[in-house]
Amino acid sequence: MKTRELRPNVYSIGAIDWDSRLFDRLIPLPDGTSYNAYVVRGSEKTVLFDTVDPAETSVLLGNLARLGIDKLDYVVSHHGEQDHSGSLPDILLMYPGAKLVTNPKCKQMLIDLLDIEQSKFVTVEDGQELSLGDKTLRFLYTPWVHWPETMSTYVIEDKILFSCDFFGAHLATSSLFVDDEGAVYEAAKRYYAEIMMPFRKQIRANLAKLNELDIEVIAPSHGPAHDKPAFIMDAYEDWVSDSVKNKVVVPYVSMHGSTGEMISHFVEALMDRDIAVRQFELSTVDLGKLAIDLVDAATIVIGSPTVLAGAHPAAVYAAFMANAIRPKAKFASIIGSFGWGGKTVEQLTGLMSNLKVELLEPVLTKGAPREAAFVALDRLADEVLAKHKQAGIVN
Ligand code: FEO
Repeated sequence: MKTRELRPNVYSIGAIDWDSRLFDRLIPLPDGTSYNAYVVRGSEKTVLFDTVDPAETSVLLGNLARLGIDKLDYVVSHHGEQDHSGSLPDILLMYPGAKLVTNPKCKQMLIDLLDIEQSKFVTVEDGQELSLGDKTLRFLYTPWVHWPETMSTYVIEDKILFSCDFFGAHLATSSLFVDDEGAVYEAAKRYYAEIMMPFRKQIRANLAKLNELDIEVIAPSHGPAHDKPAFIMDAYEDWVSDSVKNKVVVPYVSMHGSTGEMISHFVEALMDRDIAVRQFELSTVDLGKLAIDLVDAATIVIGSPTVLAGAHPAAVYAAFMANAIRPKAKFASIIGSFGWGGKTVEQLTGLMSNLKVELLEPVLTKGAPREAAFVALDRLADEVLAKHKQAGIVN
């Protein structure tokens, strides 16, 4: 990849990964990703911020050579996860005089994960500064974006924040800065939903800390940089707030059509009541899309048939995932068809114990749905609307 200049003597030198479609063998990457690393040249010292995924090490080393970097004084590691730290051993071999600057928690992670020698490290405290000559780095602890050790660096003179995963997006693009706000908003919201949403309250504290800074550029470690930081900071403020939208997320799976028929009726009933709905068929869904809508939906209603006395495995997976990423939804319910009995409701509600939701009366029907089931689904839609009104989401 080309090296590109964000500001005088500040370069983006990471790798664009256009082709990957799965991260951590878990997270879909519909638009690829990038592993951003940055070089800042001060009048006296040169620093590298983070590295790249080990598979892309040759790209990083090539870019350092292309920029003519024959000496690195410091390598700052903001986060221990290997998509940013994985090339550190090669970088430290190539630049043996470089000191590895990080916080004590991240230091231990890098030792545990990558066997980096103790003697390589310099640890920094929250707020500590380091001079490069005409540029000054200020290290800021920003825990839980995405692991407990994550931190950011603010370059005081350039007003640039290097934020690592924070404000990032899995998006492969040739643009150095955001040029398609719609695409970046969706990718950033997906990224937030998948890895940061469980730490919403801690992220709120990090945002408050950053609001004290005069930031002109945010340079994250995935996706394009932000030269209009308010765009992404305002989006985060909304996502981490306690407010939810007049929206119901309906992940469902149906084996022979009965649960599907119930879901269709229920979704139309919600639409008749001017409630936004997002319906996701779970055997084919991109779970990232589902996660995006879980960021701000007021209500989750899972549709599942009963299989072998419990919920369909696709519904179990969706409930497990929702429980793990901890959306701020306030209400939940379950819809489904069964043949002769089972524990679908108990199983799905048991899987969502992390969610602070009020359970609205589920609608389960024996066999194909008939009049009584449709009446019960209309009653559930009425209850959703009433709850959204009580919560002040709609008038
Ligand atoms: Fe991009 Fe948590 O690593």
